[in-house]
Amino acid sequence: MKHIPQDFIVDLVARTNIVDVISARIKIKKKGKDYWGNCPFHNEKTPSFSVSEKKQIYYCFGCGAGGYTIDFIMQYDRLSFPEAIEELATLQGITVPYVDKSPNQHSNKTQISGQNTRRDLYQLMERLANFYQIQLNESSAQKAKDYLQQRGLDAQVIEHYRIGYAPDDWNKTSNEILKNDQERKLYDQAGMQVTNDNGRQYDRFRNRIMFPIRDRQGNIIAFGGRTINSKENAKYINSPETSIFHKGYQLYGLYEALQINRNPQQLLVVEGYMDVVSVAQFGINYAVAALGTATTEEHIKLLFRATDNVIFCFDGDEAGRRAAWRALIVLLPTLLDGKQIKFVFLPEGEDPDTLIRKEGKTGFELRITQGMALSKFLFEELIKQVDLKTSEGRAKLSSLALPLIAQIKAQSFSLNLKQQLGDYLGFLDVSQIDKLLEQHTDTNKAEMTVNKSPVIQMKLTTMRILIGLLVQNPELAKLVSDVNALRNVKLAGIELFLELLDLCHHYTNINTAQILAKYADTPVYKQLTILSTWEHKYPDEELNMIFSHTLKELYDNILCQKRDELIAKDRVFKLTEAEKKELATLILVLSKKD
Ligand code: UTP
Ligand code: MN
Repeated sequence: MKHIPQDFIVDLVARTNIVDVISARIKIKKKGKDYWGNCPFHNEKTPSFSVSEKKQIYYCFGCGAGGYTIDFIMQYDRLSFPEAIEELATLQGITVPYVDKSPNQHSNKTQISGQNTRRDLYQLMERLANFYQIQLNESSAQKAKDYLQQRGLDAQVIEHYRIGYAPDDWNKTSNEILKNDQERKLYDQAGMQVTNDNGRQYDRFRNRIMFPIRDRQGNIIAFGGRTINSKENAKYINSPETSIFHKGYQLYGLYEALQINRNPQQLLVVEGYMDVVSVAQFGINYAVAALGTATTEEHIKLLFRATDNVIFCFDGDEAGRRAAWRALIVLLPTLLDGKQIKFVFLPEGEDPDTLIRKEGKTGFELRITQGMALSKFLFEELIKQVDLKTSEGRAKLSSLALPLIAQIKAQSFSLNLKQQLGDYLGFLDVSQIDKLLEQHTDTNKAEMTVNKSPVIQMKLTTMRILIGLLVQNPELAKLVSDVNALRNVKLAGIELFLELLDLCHHYTNINTAQILAKYADTPVYKQLTILSTWEHKYPDEELNMIFSHTLKELYDNILCQKRDELIAKDRVFKLTEAEKKELATLILVLSKKD
């Protein structure tokens, strides 16, 4: 069972500004502190829909719709919770890290659409792949067959990679495959159809050579399609991100390579589908391709789970070297001793597909064995930027190399780099580099705690300060006398805060570790551990005061919320006498504060 880690969601929401999300969808204008517009959730002529940038929430005084960013996306785009997360993550350019979750852990809020749909999606994709394979043998696919033949692929390779053909028709695939509305819905969920502006739906893949993309278990989760029409603009089109397909987490050809050999000696990372199948045609059946994305940490994990040696192929030009550098930056922190990485730079204008036709398997494999070690590439690139003949140049080299070396956890690899750096700098001894490295990490650590403590990155909301201080100092719970005022309040985190308060009131001597232990199996655990190690820099003797102040801020917030709700209600319905009285009191109390 897959789920989305809670701390990822917390972080995602913190990174997103609700004003950006909402203003991308409806018109809102700043008036005073807040933004206002016509409510998208009910019909109205005068704006009563407000967005607070400070609180990162929205609220409609007309219809009562309200919540935070994810609620808005769910409500407005009509998405499920995980889909809304996907949407936000896409906006931020990050990939949702789905993790396995055993069924005995609780909270299923963030599960994807349920096991059934997932299985149904796999089954549909499987049927589609079969259909495309069969289509390739129809007489109408003659051009596609000719194309594959011209590219040198034989029946065996075509079968191994289950290459197929999507017919040249707007709806033929869907018409022949889909039996009912439910299947149509799955087809859509799998990203296999496109809806145009007029609401007309048609098959995404038409008149294309189809490459099924399989996950590690062999489920077909997406397709890539290559045009056979040279006039067509898009050479390749690919399935969009869906609930079963997350690009940064997949490598084309990995399943197929492991089918041939469970424990390959090495894996070769190339750029395209055609490169993978073409080198396989020549007997190199250990190539995989990242799906049109830069190398991700997840790719590297996948690769090293399968083998100890990974070779990356890049173009030999400047762009290729830049791509290699980007990969290196991702690679460094993930390196493990005993795992080897090499870079192969191809002659300009060639890709593995064209090269292997010219040089054959032997020539191509020679290039692989002659690949450049990661460390050599690293220094080659750095040395280009400095003049080693001058002492400034050598100092610059050390200032460029140290931050990179500091990221490496693999000991022998790090030692190797330090030795090489020492050689360039004219040091005799690695211990001198170690000293430099210590200085570097010390300054870095100092910066980290000031600017980059995880909590600060997550934005310090009132709620997080309270929870953080409470987890670190459970005795602060004593300062909260009126717990009831906090109940039934709509605020992110308040439930957890209440739970913690109850816990601390109940066990008067509970400590931080015990609290964490209580939450060990829950989705909030990670968040709590981060908060429990948050370096808040408040002096001990001021903690009580700071906690009380923040608590008061929270109470005020709640009062404001209550007041605003009553005002809104007053506009639409009549308030009861009691409510009128309450509102008058609230207005009075709050006006004294301003
Ligand atoms: P290439 O343009 O290098 O394609 O794109 P290729 O693999 O050499 O294909 P042939 O030889 O022309 O048939 C490399 C990869 O980038 C992605 C695909 O994953 C492709 O395999 N790509 C490329 C796209 O997604 N869309 C495109 O329009 C082009
Ligand atoms: Mn190519």
